[in-house]
Amino acid sequence: MSVADSGPSGLKTFAGWLRTANARFAAWFNRVTPKGLYPRSLLIIVTPMVILQSVVAFVFMERHYNTVTRRLSAAVSQDISAVVALYDVLPKDKELSALRRIAWRNLGLNVAVLPPDPLPPPGPKPFFSVLDSALSREIGRRVKAPFWIDTVGRSNLIEVRVKMDDAVLRIFAQRNAAYASNSHIFLLWMVGTSLVLLTVAILFLRNQIRPIENLADAAEAFGKGRDVENFRPRGAREVRRAAVAFLEMKRRIERQIEQRTTMLAGVSHDMRTILTRFKLELAFLPEGESEALKKDVDELQGMLEAYLAFARGDPGEQAALTDMSELIEDLRLNAERDGATATASFMGPPLVEVKADQLKRCIGNLVNNAVRHAGTVAISGNRDARWLIVTVDDDGPGIPEEKREEVFRPFLRLDDARNQDAGGSGLGLSIARDVARAHGGDVTLADSPMGGLRATVRIPV
Ligand SMILES: Nc1ncnc2c1ncn2[C@@H]1O[C@H](COP(=O)(O)OP(=O)(O)OP(=O)(O)O)[C@@H](O)[C@H]1O
Ligand SMILES: [Mg+2]
Repeated sequence: MSVADSGPSGLKTFAGWLRTANARFAAWFNRVTPKGLYPRSLLIIVTPMVILQSVVAFVFMERHYNTVTRRLSAAVSQDISAVVALYDVLPKDKELSALRRIAWRNLGLNVAVLPPDPLPPPGPKPFFSVLDSALSREIGRRVKAPFWIDTVGRSNLIEVRVKMDDAVLRIFAQRNAAYASNSHIFLLWMVGTSLVLLTVAILFLRNQIRPIENLADAAEAFGKGRDVENFRPRGAREVRRAAVAFLEMKRRIERQIEQRTTMLAGVSHDMRTILTRFKLELAFLPEGESEALKKDVDELQGMLEAYLAFARGDPGEQAALTDMSELIEDLRLNAERDGATATASFMGPPLVEVKADQLKRCIGNLVNNAVRHAGTVAISGNRDARWLIVTVDDDGPGIPEEKREEVFRPFLRLDDARNQDAGGSGLGLSIARDVARAHGGDVTLADSPMGGLRATVRIPV
């Protein structure tokens, strides 16, 4: 009963634990792996290569290299045991020179008979030496007398001493007869070829990834309203396809914007002609009857003029490096000239690539609004690695929060009731936002610490 109860819930907690563990691992993995496409692709190539090489190297060392060394040391130890056995059975006086001769000529061993002193103490075991352990083991198996072995002392000789009853046999063997000595060449080859492989991979990858980077740059520049210069679709088929699609899209957007502007400008222009006729006809009407109508016509004409001015406003302006602190200072002077108390400040590197005239118009509209509605204006710019942010604060009445989106609509004015004659056309904020968005940024409204409205222009740099 209790098992049946705890089973599903235990399973559930385990599943939950597994899920969080998985999510944590994914987050960690994302954090530690590089973010760029280039290092990531390199990693994809390098990791399997390193793993493969390590496995191959390990298997080689373990199987081939050790086996060969073991076989070789077995052969040497067989020779040594033969010498020892011969020494045992041969008469000790004159036959010894024959033993030494045979050992030297036929087995490549240098044998000497020393007085029967005790063997030297065993030397320190060389770390990581297969030879030492393999050879000691093999000799130990074949020679039943106490022995001493030195594989490190002389560079290309191995010294073995065997204690016999009446003497000590000292035997020198060639080191490379007992040892697969040139196997490091294999490793060198392996590392060398993988370095070549890596170089080739790096070169190839760079060529493959550059078109993607170019495409990203072009898309980013277009998003910020900058010119996309000499961008051509290049690289692999998919990348080229994306680039062609991007260019196609860019062309469509540009055409659409152009079409919209020309059409609206044409419409406003035609309407202006009719309005002028309208005014002429009104002028012939008796004085007093047409006052309200005249005022409406004037207002309509004002709106049209404002729109036409905007639509004409140089659409082909190119983005160029602009000193923002200078631009803000200009706007401050304008505001002072219009009778407001204005301050200006700028922080960060002031040179930014923007369409200067348009941006001046954008911020200028905000400053004009502040001047119109308040007595004190504070303009402050801030530029960091990603954003250019300009805020315009005033101490006027502000805009209630629920109206702050609405006022961006063209021709919308809130202050009809507040002060009629000072009212503009209601295009200022729409134009400001239009310009900011064309730069990839935006204009937002908020409460100002000065008590009035804070308008913020934010543009990516
Ligand atoms: N700083 C401000 N303080 C209070 N109200 C503001 C402020 N800025 C704008 N508004 C309100 O938002 C409305 C829209 O502003 P917008 O700049 O679009 O048009 P406008 O100033 O009336 O005309 P234009 O800028 O074309 O001369 C204004 O009519 C005004 O009521
Ligand atoms: Mg305005």
